[in-house]
Amino acid sequence: PADPAFSSAVVAWQRAHGRHALPWQNTRDAYRIWLSEIMLQQTQVGAVLAYYARFLARFPTLESLAAAPLDDVMALWSGLGYYTRARNLHACARRVAAEYGGVFPGDPALLAQLPGIGRSTAAAIAAFSVGARAAILDGNVKRVFARVFGVEQYPGLKPVEDALWRRAEALLPDGGGGAIESYTQGLMDLGATLCTRSSPDCARCPLRDRCVAHAGGRTAELPVRKPK
Ligand code: ADE
Repeated sequence: PADPAFSSAVVAWQRAHGRHALPWQNTRDAYRIWLSEIMLQQTQVGAVLAYYARFLARFPTLESLAAAPLDDVMALWSGLGYYTRARNLHACARRVAAEYGGVFPGDPALLAQLPGIGRSTAAAIAAFSVGARAAILDGNVKRVFARVFGVEQYPGLKPVEDALWRRAEALLPDGGGGAIESYTQGLMDLGATLCTRSSPDCARCPLRDRCVAHAGGRTAELPVRKPK
């Protein structure tokens, strides 16, 4: 890794202060991990919890989901929003059943070819299910990186996003000992619990001493808003 102290700080913080008891943690079941990552794409943890439990009670396995009519899936998704996710979820279950014998691939490049699974979601599923060394870059992680590295352009711009992906790849820890899993969860936890959009808790942040935004008193200005 380019900067092993960066991932070490995130890993140590996650193990001491991160979230460890969410219902999709402490499992290597890719089906359960995948379902959580799809629900969490555009919805916060608190809103997902009840839906996740109900969904798994009704569809405990990939096979049960793949065999169900789409209407049943849509009915269970009702209220969560962003319904394309539910259509893609069902299509993805059928693809994994038909093409992979019901077992999700561990390779993030293969996962990213499935419906509803983008590059970051693929990396999260692979990291949590098999410890694959793959970088995530979701909205929360973009915010953390924009602040830590002092990114002065809108992170949604393609060249800016490409540069953030390169940084994300370069910062990955070496695998083993659960480092990938803790690091991946740690970045998510930092973005969700400390490095929030409107009131970041820099006093508790493991990256404070290397954060450009904190050093300049500019956490309110970074990341910059979408240009019109
Ligand atoms: N948001 C996206 N993935 C998540 C995860 N695994 N845990 C908590 N929040 C998340």
